[in-house]
Amino acid sequence: MPEAETEEVLVLDFGGQYSQLIARRIRECGVFSEMLPASVPIGTVLERKPKAVVLSGGPASVYDPGAPEFPGELLELDVPVLGICYGMQAMAKALGGRVEAAEAGEFGRTDLTVTGDGGALLGGLPREQSCWMSHRDSVFEAPEDFEAVASTPGSPVAALESPSRGLYGIQFHPEVVHTPFGTEVLDRFLREVAGCKEAWSPASIVAEQVEAVREQVGDSKVICGLSGGVDSSVAARLVFEAVGENLTCVFVDHGLMRENEAEQVVEAFSGFGIPLIHVDAEDRFLERLSGVTEPEAKRKIIGEEFIRVFEEEARKIEGADYLVQGTLYSDVIESGGSDHAETIKSHHNVGGLPEDLDLELVEPLRMLFKDEVRAVGTELGLPDRLVWRQPFPGPGLGIRIVGGEVTRERLDILRAADSILQQEIRAAELYRDLWQSFCVLPVVRSVGVQGDGRTYAYPIVIRAVTSEDAMTADWARLPYDLLEKVSNRIINEVDGVNRVVLDISSKPPATIEWE
Ligand code: XMP
Repeated sequence: MPEAETEEVLVLDFGGQYSQLIARRIRECGVFSEMLPASVPIGTVLERKPKAVVLSGGPASVYDPGAPEFPGELLELDVPVLGICYGMQAMAKALGGRVEAAEAGEFGRTDLTVTGDGGALLGGLPREQSCWMSHRDSVFEAPEDFEAVASTPGSPVAALESPSRGLYGIQFHPEVVHTPFGTEVLDRFLREVAGCKEAWSPASIVAEQVEAVREQVGDSKVICGLSGGVDSSVAARLVFEAVGENLTCVFVDHGLMRENEAEQVVEAFSGFGIPLIHVDAEDRFLERLSGVTEPEAKRKIIGEEFIRVFEEEARKIEGADYLVQGTLYSDVIESGGSDHAETIKSHHNVGGLPEDLDLELVEPLRMLFKDEVRAVGTELGLPDRLVWRQPFPGPGLGIRIVGGEVTRERLDILRAADSILQQEIRAAELYRDLWQSFCVLPVVRSVGVQGDGRTYAYPIVIRAVTSEDAMTADWARLPYDLLEKVSNRIINEVDGVNRVVLDISSKPPATIEWE
C-alpha cells in the first residue's frame, strides 16, 4: 500500500467494461488511483480520504429494477466527483435531471459538439471533436445547478458540470484511445478541478514500496521464487532494494525454459549481487514426466515437482519468515477483493504457494498494472530482455510438446526452433507488438525430402498472437518474408524437423497454447 499521504483518486466501478482502464489512465496522468465496487460502504471511501471520486460506466439502464444508484452520501464528502457514462446518468437522475432511453443508442465513434463555454473539462478544446460512446440511455436535461457543456446527435447533454457542487459528468469514455481528448479531459479533472499533484511515477512507486516492504519484514529473512518472468523478477529486484541480502531468490530451473532464458535470469541477478540459488532440476522433472502424455497430468506433475524442489531449497534458508509473490493489481481485482488468500494465481503460476512452509506473503506489485511493473523494472535497472519478456506458461515447453511425451530430444528440437523464431521476430522489431510468439512441437512425423533422401521428421508450428489480456487473442499477421525466413532457418538448422506450419486460429474458439 502506498503511504497515507499519497494522493488518491477512487474509481467506483458500476461494472463497466473499461473501468480498470480508467484507473490506469488516471495513474498515467501521474495520480494514484484504485478501483472499488460502487456498492462499497461509504465509510470505506471516507477512510481513503480520496482527492476525487470517479464513477465508472456500467451495463445497466438507470431504469432497470435494482440498477445501482448514485451513492448520494458522496455529496457530503466535499470531494469532486466525475461520472462517466452510466456514472453520469446515475448522477443526473439522482439529482433531478431527465434521463431516458434514446431512440437509438450510441456505440463507437461519435461526433461531439462543445456547447457554451465548455466548462472546466472542455473549455478551449475544439468545438467539434470525436469521442467514443457506448450507451443506450441519454441525459435529456441536466439537473438544476448544472450546466450542459457538450452534446452529440443522440445525447442532448453529453457533458455537464456543477462547479459549485463539485460535480461533473461526461457521457463519453475518456479512457479509451478512440477519444482523442480523453486524457486531456481526465487530466483537467484531476489537476484543475481536484487539485491533484503529479506524484505517481516509477520512481515514487519504488520509493514507497521499498519503504512498505521494509516496514513489513523488518530484519527478517525473505525468500523469493523466480520463474524467469517479468513479475517475479521485478518483485525480487524491488525487495532486494528494500532488504538487501536478507533476500534469497530461488530459481527452480525445470529444464523447460526457452533457450538462454535461465542464463539471462541468473546473469541479471548475479549482476546486482542478489543472493540466488539456481537449482538445476532438469533431470528430476524429465524423470517424472517420462511416459506422461496427457496435458493436465503434465501440468500437475510439473506444478507438484516445482513445489517440492522449491520447498527443499527454502527449508535450507534458515529463519525465513516471508515469501515474495509477484501478484499484480489485475489479479487482485479479478479475484474480487483484497483478501490475500484469494489472490494467489493458481493456473497461471507455477505450482502456487508452498503451504507447509508457513511463510507470510510479501506482494510489492499488488497495486500495480503490468505496464507499471515494467516501468518499475526499468527504473530498477533490470535489462529490457527481462522487463519486456512475453508471458510464458509455468509448465514451459512441457505443454508445447503436444500429444506425446516430453523428452530431452524433443525439448532440444523445440528450443532450437523457438530460438530461431524469437531471433527473427526480434530482428523484425515485432517482439513487443506480439502478446506471445512461440513454437509448438506436435508429436507426429511426416515425410519430407532433403538432399537425396527421404526424411521422416517432426513439424514445427508457429504460434504468434496479439492480445490485451490473454482472454481473447487474434493470430498475428506476420509478414510473409519473415515467415519464409523462419521456416527456412528452422528446417535447415534444426535436425529432426522437415516442415513448418502456421497456426491461424483466434481465441476463442482455439486457445493460445496447444495443450
Ligand atoms: P490459453 O492457452 O488458455 O492461455 O489461451 C492463456 C494464457 O495463459 C498461459 N497459460 C499458462 N500459464 N500455466 C501458466 O502459468 C499454465 O498451465 C498455462 N496454460 C496457459 C498462456 O501462455 C497464455 O498466456
